[in-house]
Amino acid sequence: MPASGGILRYLRAKGSVDARSVNLQVREACVRALAEFPADRPLRVLELGGGAGGAFRYWMSLLVPFRRVEFTATDRDGGLLEAYREAVAALAGELGFPVTGDQPDRLRIEDGGRVIDLRLRRVVAPEGFPREDEGSFDLMVAQSFWDLVPPGTALALGRQLLAPGGILYATLTFSGGTRFAPPHELDRQLLHCYHASMGGERGGDPYAGERLLGHVRMPGSGFSELATGRSDWRVVPTDEGYIADERFFLLTVLGFIEKELLTSTEIRDDQLDWWTGIRRRQLADGQLSYAARQQDLVARRDG
Ligand SMILES: C[S@@+](CC[C@H](N)C(=O)[O-])C[C@H]1O[C@@H](n2cnc3c(N)ncnc32)[C@H](O)[C@@H]1O
Repeated sequence: MPASGGILRYLRAKGSVDARSVNLQVREACVRALAEFPADRPLRVLELGGGAGGAFRYWMSLLVPFRRVEFTATDRDGGLLEAYREAVAALAGELGFPVTGDQPDRLRIEDGGRVIDLRLRRVVAPEGFPREDEGSFDLMVAQSFWDLVPPGTALALGRQLLAPGGILYATLTFSGGTRFAPPHELDRQLLHCYHASMGGERGGDPYAGERLLGHVRMPGSGFSELATGRSDWRVVPTDEGYIADERFFLLTVLGFIEKELLTSTEIRDDQLDWWTGIRRRQLADGQLSYAARQQDLVARRDG
């Protein structure tokens, strides 16, 4: 089933915010770690929660030295994976690279002397990976993902799916902080409840960024930290309003918060209406700023 227009537009709108948020020192550490892999054998890459392919171009920018890349993009949402395939085909077209493959779950891109084989797989993490996948990837990447699954999932999956010496690279992992400006007297109470709602029955981890780092540093984790650093999202209006589609991005974030808090027993409906009403008005007037605390991390699986 094709993905809904709203979620697709949100994932595309977040692209400009993502692009300026990724931590460049962590990125460099990842590139250096990848330089130790032989460039003449296929590099096997696994992406989790790939969505509509918003990070594909970024991942490719790390893999320039490799003549062959076997890239497996996974997500639980088949509609988003269809959009992922379309986005990659469109990107290759834009760059003038030939694309082949008529199967819905595969695509080959030839870029001069380089071949990228993309495979799209619908997988629910962490339980959906079969035994054949064990130890069969050199690089495991995920963007804006690890806060959506239970604490501990990233390293458990890394130990299961990465070959010894494989690299785990996590970007834009949410880490327990949401801020809006101008301030509102309900911010503290409301955002505390919002963060709490990501864990619990929802099964996510609102502190995933920090927690992932803590887990890597634990003795016996099976990983060595290579680099870590903040990658906070920041959306601030300019004199001409919000850039690109960032107004829609912020509107969707407000919608996520409202949806989570509608069922909260700690926030009354009139409080939520008051807060969201003011925030939406500030957004419409180009007066609302937003920041989310996030963390990037690159680590090597012990060999
Ligand atoms: C916030 S989006 C990020 C998408 C993409 N990485 C990006 O940055 O544009 C999170 C993605 O994770 C997927 N997802 C959430 N929970 C999942 C799970 N347990 N297993 C697999 N995919 C999941 C969602 O369908 C969604 O596409």
